[in-house]
Parts: sequence; structure tokens; C-alpha cells
Amino acid sequence: MSYEDIVKQKQLKENPIIMGIETSCDETAVAITRNGSEILSECIISSATEHAKFGGVVPEIASRNHTVAISLATEKALKDANLTLNDIDAFAVTYGAGLLGALLVGVSYAKALAFATKKPLIPVSHVRGHVSASYLTKPDLKPPFVTLLASGGHTAVIAVEDYYKFNVLGSTIDDAIGEAFDKVARVLNLSYPGGPNVENLAKQGSNNVALPKMLKNYKGSEFDFSYSGLKTAVINYVHNQQAKGKEVVYADVAHSFQKNAVDAVIERINKAVKKTGYKTVCVSGGVGANGYLRNALLENFKDTNVTLVLPEKKYCTDNGAMIAMEGFLQYKRYNFAPLTLNASAVVSLK
Ligand code: KG4
Ligand code: ZN
Repeated sequence: MSYEDIVKQKQLKENPIIMGIETSCDETAVAITRNGSEILSECIISSATEHAKFGGVVPEIASRNHTVAISLATEKALKDANLTLNDIDAFAVTYGAGLLGALLVGVSYAKALAFATKKPLIPVSHVRGHVSASYLTKPDLKPPFVTLLASGGHTAVIAVEDYYKFNVLGSTIDDAIGEAFDKVARVLNLSYPGGPNVENLAKQGSNNVALPKMLKNYKGSEFDFSYSGLKTAVINYVHNQQAKGKEVVYADVAHSFQKNAVDAVIERINKAVKKTGYKTVCVSGGVGANGYLRNALLENFKDTNVTLVLPEKKYCTDNGAMIAMEGFLQYKRYNFAPLTLNASAVVSLK
């Protein structure tokens, strides 16, 4: 019997143990969860320091590091959970979106594990994985809810109508918010990854650099974002001041940029809550780890009847547990992949 035929005959387990494998960017992450949100173990090996000297992720270096780290992370996750490979009921892996060469390492590795153990292989969208991080934080969370997706590759406000049905209310028409943080970091001479460094510098500054309001007079969706204009305004401000020989207070630039970037998010989330009538708002993606954004959201929803779900910072940035969690949702609806599963640089937000 072929692998696919064996998997087809499998009965779903009541409380499945799922391994989540994530290699879409510079983190090699493996986690094991039971029944979705119960985390048995997790291991993240990052190659961020290797990319720092180049000012951003170098895809080739990321792929090579995944190749070295993937079996180390898997062994560690199994050991910490006190399990063997045969105890795993299914292998969930990020197949996209992300860097192709990096994704292929995780996809190929997960295929080999699934094939060897004759267990299901579950294809997971990285974006859906980010959204599922909220279920880790609040296991009794149930759709519908509004989620902000704010990462290095995506920015969107999504109405999660049920576990599987996403209504993307708006998204960025150019750069993602994390990408803007990283690019602004560069012009402020801060190292990669830029987001946390901009956040830290901004603490010493104040909001006294005038920046344009996002998408003024825009005819598209009121939920759309544009971070390219904001980023360019910051870069132009710094260069113009320097050309005039004027002092540029980098901390003020960082603060003003961050405030502008976050104001746009809050405005759209409030509109989304109004439009949907949903009473829960979640945050997902690496920029969700930003303390200024988290505080602004807490303040915004203080004294309202909206429940705010802020995943722990380590579950906002890339991790294996969110992939295992989303894998669990896909497991429940038999979304198993054949061994011909391929990686995909882009996946639909829907
Ligand atoms: O979700 P993520 O780990 O990977 C992607 O799927 O892209 O997000 C990475 C992005 C990077 O742009 C990084 O600079 C940003 O999230 N980020 C932050 C913070 N931590 C990570 N941005 C602002 N403030 C932070 N504390
Ligand atoms: Zn991510």
C-alpha cells in the first residue's frame, strides 16, 4: 500500500500529538503540542546573528542553517517532551509563505518523518499559523474575532468568521509593517532585526517629527495599509535634515515613526470592530511583540466590552507551536498532504 493509502485509512485521534515544523525565514522552530494548544515542548534555533552583518536575511544562509539545525531542533523537542518519533500522530509543516529555499528544508524534512512513521503530513500556511498563536494564549478562544496580522511579510485586518473562514477586510498595498520597521532601522543605523531595536530607541524619544497620515484621499478599502509612504517620509526627513547640516535626533524619528505606524493599526482595528460587531480582538505576527503597540491596544480597549488577546511575545514572532496549533485545526478536517507537497513563496491570506 502507498503512503497516501495508509494515511487515508487512519482514524483521527481524540487528543492528537502534533509536531509543528517552521523554517520559512531565519528561525528553525520545532514544537510538539497535544490537543492543539497544550505545548509539550518547543525549540527555536535562530540564524539572526549570521544575517545581522548583512543588514537583513540572506536566503542562502538561512537555508544552510536550517539544514544544520532542523534535526537538532527536532531531537531536542522530542527529548524535552519525553517522546519518540512514533508517539507523534501527525507532522505539520509550513509550506509557505516565505523564502523558498528555507521552506524546502522544513517541507522535505517533514515529508521524510511522515513517510518513515506512516503518519499524516499537514500543510500549514505560515499566515494562518500566526493567527492560530492566539489559540495557544487563550485555549477557550472561539471565532468569530478580529485579528491584526502584523509581520515582516504581511499586514492585514482579518475577520476570522470561523476556524477556517477568513474575511480579509484590508491589507497593505505595498510594504508590510515589519518591513517598514526593518527599513527605518537601517536608516537609523540600527542592526537587524530592526523592529525590536527601533522600539528600544523610540523609548528615549518623543513624537516631534511630522509624518504624513497614511493613505489620505485613498479610494480603496478603508482597512488597507500603506507602509511604503511612511517609510519613505522617514528616510527623506533624515536625509533632508542631514543635507541641511541639521542635527537629527534618531530617537525622536524612531518614536514618531512607531507612533504613526501604530496609529494606523488602531484606527483600522476600531473600524473593524465597529463593522463586524465582534467582541474579541487578537494580535498576530512579529510586530505584535512590539510593546508600544501592545500598550496602545490595551489603552484603546480599556473600559470597553472588547476582549483583547495578546499572545506572549515569543508566540508573535515565528515559532513551531503556532504551526502545530494550526496543524491541529487542519488535522480535524483531514487536510493531509501527499508526499508530493511543494513549498510556495506566496500563499493567499484567505
Ligand atoms: O512574524 P515574524 O517573526 O516573521 C514574518 O513572518 O515576517 O515577523 C518578523 C518581523 C520583522 O520585521 C521584525 O522586525 C518585526 O517582526 N518585529 C518587531 C518587533 N519584534 C519583531 N517590530 C517591531 N517591534 C518589535 N518588538
Ligand atoms: Zn512569521
